[in-house]
Amino acid sequence: MDSRPIGVFDSGVGGLTVVQEIMNQLPNEEIVYFGDTARVPYGSKSKETVTKYSKQIIRFLLTKNIKAIVIACNTASSNSLEEVKRTFDIPIIGVVKPGAVMAYKTTKNNRIGIIGTEATIRSESYSKEIKKHNENIKTFSFACPLFVPLAEEGWTNNEISYLVSKKYLEQFTDKEIDTLVLGCTHYPLLKEVIQDVIGDNVKLINPALEAAKDLKELLTSINALRQNESVPKHSFYVSDNTTKFEQIAAIALKKSIPPVKIIDIEQF
Ligand code: DGL
Repeated sequence: MDSRPIGVFDSGVGGLTVVQEIMNQLPNEEIVYFGDTARVPYGSKSKETVTKYSKQIIRFLLTKNIKAIVIACNTASSNSLEEVKRTFDIPIIGVVKPGAVMAYKTTKNNRIGIIGTEATIRSESYSKEIKKHNENIKTFSFACPLFVPLAEEGWTNNEISYLVSKKYLEQFTDKEIDTLVLGCTHYPLLKEVIQDVIGDNVKLINPALEAAKDLKELLTSINALRQNESVPKHSFYVSDNTTKFEQIAAIALKKSIPPVKIIDIEQF
């Protein structure tokens, strides 16, 4: 048993879709969340820059006496997970492997679509992970960078998000996919629109569900679940502007959160 919190991070509000799942599956756990609102988006940045950002954030989270880290960002998981695992002596899990596992367990026709940021798609992290399991699965990957600012703006279900989805997702028209991985933690915030556009016969995969399951397994295996009876006190940090983050957090988590604090991430 270990009552210390879990560190969770993303470039902005996207990781809250993972927080929501952790809160559902591990309601006793305490979370320290960091959203890098000063430097979002990560998706257009290089592997080196994303890795530098991930290391700074992990150094910050380590000051909060955490017991494990969830990289609630596909871009950072795809580009820096291996490196940060080598660098830091703390259990760290990402979201790509859990998403890939869910995708190959779901597809019936072995044709999987993947959408994510430019950096995630460029890394081919999902297709590599899926093909490790079954090399006969065909994957079709497209970057959808505008979904991130739409989610950060809270425009998750309006005519603009609908038009943007239509434009991006028409690339799948002749691909006959039956499964689509939401390979960016911002995208589940737009899932109604995405499902509407892609059609009901395509199953959407939200890697957060499986990532929270992985976290539970990890904490159980190292005997580190929080058994404390008291209600967990979560804390939220960003690197800039709290207002929009607080508004979107209330929608994403369906509850209000304690005041968000700003920290200077460049110090770490
Ligand atoms: N939410 C992140 C991801 O899962 C990053 C989006 C971005 O900052 O571009 O990839």
